[in-house]
Amino acid sequence: MIKNCKLLSFRELGNAELGYLTPLEIGEDIPFAVNRIYYISDVPFTACRGFHSHRKLEQVLICVKGNVKIRIKTYLEEDIVELNNSNYGLYIGNMVWREMFDFSEDAVLLVFASEHYDESDYIKDYNIYLEESKEYFKIVYENDEREV
Ligand code: TYD
Repeated sequence: MIKNCKLLSFRELGNAELGYLTPLEIGEDIPFAVNRIYYISDVPFTACRGFHSHRKLEQVLICVKGNVKIRIKTYLEEDIVELNNSNYGLYIGNMVWREMFDFSEDAVLLVFASEHYDESDYIKDYNIYLEESKEYFKIVYENDEREV
C-alpha cells in the first residue's frame, strides 16, 4: 500500500440466520476523531469521482454495499484498491490523490472524515498536487532510503 494509506479490517458479528453487524469504534476501528460522515450512491458505472487530494483531512472509505475501485497516488506511488466487502475500510491520510471509479449499480460508499467540510483543504489541480506532494513526501521517502 502507498504511503499515508492503509487497509483496515473490521469485526463482523452475526450469522446467516440473523444477518450481520459491524461495529466501528471511533479511535479504535476508525483511527481519528470523526467530525463528518457522508455517503455516495447511485453513481453511473462510467462516472469517475474524486480527482483531488486534501492537505489536512483524513478519511476512511467503506463500501457498505456493492463495489468500487479507488486509485490512490502520491507523486511517486500508485495503487488501485477494490472495495467489495463492508468489513474492510480504506484509510486515506492527508496529501494523497484519490479517484473513485467503476461503481457497481448498487454501490454505497460510506465515508468517515476527520474534519468538517472545508473547501480550502482541497487540492484539485493535479500539477499543484504534484508540487505540494513532492515537498510533503520528499522527507518520508528519503527516510525510507536511509533505512534500507
Ligand atoms: P466532492 O468532494 O468533490 O465529491 P467527490 O470527491 O466524491 O467527487 O464533493 C461533491 C460536492 O459536494 C461539492 O459541491 C462539495 C459538496 N460536499 C459538501 O457540501 N460536503 C461534503 O462533506 C462533501 C464531501 C462534499
